[in-house]
Amino acid sequence: MPWTRRHLLTLEELSLDEIDQIHKTAAAFKRTLKRSVKKVPALRGKTIVNLFLEPSTRTRMAFDMAAKRLSADVICLDGSKSSTTKGESLRDTGETIQALQADIIVLRHSAPGSPLYLSKLLNIPVINAGDGAHEHPTQGLLDTFTMRERLGSLKGRKVVILGDILFSRVARSNLHALRKLGANVTVVGPSTLVPEHFKAFGATVSHDLRSALADAEVVMLLRIQHERQSKGMFPSLGEYTSLFGLNNTRASWLDPKAIIMHPGPINRGVEIDSDLADGSRSVILDQVTNGIAVRMAVLYLCSGGQPEFVTVNS
Ligand code: CP
Repeated sequence: MPWTRRHLLTLEELSLDEIDQIHKTAAAFKRTLKRSVKKVPALRGKTIVNLFLEPSTRTRMAFDMAAKRLSADVICLDGSKSSTTKGESLRDTGETIQALQADIIVLRHSAPGSPLYLSKLLNIPVINAGDGAHEHPTQGLLDTFTMRERLGSLKGRKVVILGDILFSRVARSNLHALRKLGANVTVVGPSTLVPEHFKAFGATVSHDLRSALADAEVVMLLRIQHERQSKGMFPSLGEYTSLFGLNNTRASWLDPKAIIMHPGPINRGVEIDSDLADGSRSVILDQVTNGIAVRMAVLYLCSGGQPEFVTVNS
């Protein structure tokens, strides 16, 4: 099937075939990252604007790096330095960027649905780099890419997502992708942060850490998203850590070959012990590196590229 999608807004709307096409294209681009000359000419002459109206380290830098590896010109605009601080609307900012002849907008915004809104107003592709607690599609793509690299097929694999599921766009995007890839997903954490309605994503909902972690082949930790919580969802961070933080004892309940993942930013000593984050089972920095290849694939495909035309001379 040819790639036809211009925007990347959610993983909910992607088919399994589209996820496969992105992962296949990312695998080809990943080979270029190991060369001494890392650039390919795929987007030469195009201009990509990274419009980040919420803080970011890895997503913004990975999109920046991905665009440069594709030979595109990149402009990064941070919320604190943009005219949104003077009251300019997202619509006017987007139309201004389009009038400045940008070819793609990568948008991070605190409002769920803002990339969809912009995609309906503009004629250029819009890529969602995280919209509130709704979705973070490139994170879900790089996470599942990393799992497939390590485990092969995800069909029937036990994947556990542990932590603040309620406010997590990363959890939602992973849930959509993992369901399509055939994984058995358990979401676990305090009942205030892991409500029963996540069963609608095809996941098992658990508040019992030991049974959730037992024999899991992947555990993904999530940060507590204080910035999205209007009231305390548990008594204290110390209590959260004592009940749900991943430490060596709890990691021993996992499958012996299990991988430990985290989308970042990490709060060491809260959701994960520092030695586990740095240990041999952690793939946290592999996730970051894979984020470049996956975002190269997304920018390339949404610009009209086709997976079969990715030629990478190694
Ligand atoms: N995982 C993630 O989205 O990290 P940043 O907020 O640093 O981009």
